[in-house]
Amino acid sequence: MGIASDTSKRPIEICPSILPADFSKLGDELQMLEKAGADRIHWDVMDGNFVPNLTIGPDVVSSCRESVEIPFEAHLMVEDPDLLAPLYIRAGCELIMLHVESTKHLDRSLNEILELGGKAGVTLNPATPIENIKHVLHLVDQVLIMSVNPGFGGQKYLASQEAKIRKVGAWISEQSLDIDIEIDGGISASTIAQATDAGANVFVAGSAVFSHPEGVESAISELRETAASAQ
Ligand code: DX5
Ligand code: ZN
Repeated sequence: MGIASDTSKRPIEICPSILPADFSKLGDELQMLEKAGADRIHWDVMDGNFVPNLTIGPDVVSSCRESVEIPFEAHLMVEDPDLLAPLYIRAGCELIMLHVESTKHLDRSLNEILELGGKAGVTLNPATPIENIKHVLHLVDQVLIMSVNPGFGGQKYLASQEAKIRKVGAWISEQSLDIDIEIDGGISASTIAQATDAGANVFVAGSAVFSHPEGVESAISELRETAASAQ
């Protein structure tokens, strides 16, 4: 961890979620996203237990790794992150985000990711207090604030989560930590400005990217410009 700048001045990053992608041609879809200006790929990993949905295994991720250059991040919505995190690091994800609700020993689970050479992130559901991650900030590169209940794309943005962004942003600044604040769920051109104003600088977007009437490139640049004007 280096010395941080204020999170509100950290570089804006747009990370499309693969959830709405055409899974019959995932490599092509990732190349389209990279060409359209995506900063990272956000792999929504769901095990059908932690959330009522089932998505991508590590073999699918590794089969796509050579399709693009941009980094992969894995959002692990799984009951057993200690078992699965190493598989996604090996599959080519450089950042692994664990749900605080999914492990009894969060400090140990995050340390295991670091020992494997991965970067660690922590995330929490809308009903979980931000205080639950206060004592692991020194271990993470990113805090992911969920602005929907995890499991599906296309849900309504929960503005109530902005208070958590403000609070963790204050802790990060007070401790001069080098941590990105990412927000995930219901991010679109009409919600990204308020999320940026709260202090987020990394944005996951699924439906807003894939269903934009003018295509993915316009979607990503519109999100980036709207966030930049709100920083
Ligand atoms: C939900 C996922 C999100 C979701 C985002 O569990 O973690 O990444 O796919 O999709 P949108 O942007 O459509 O809300
Ligand atoms: Zn996600």
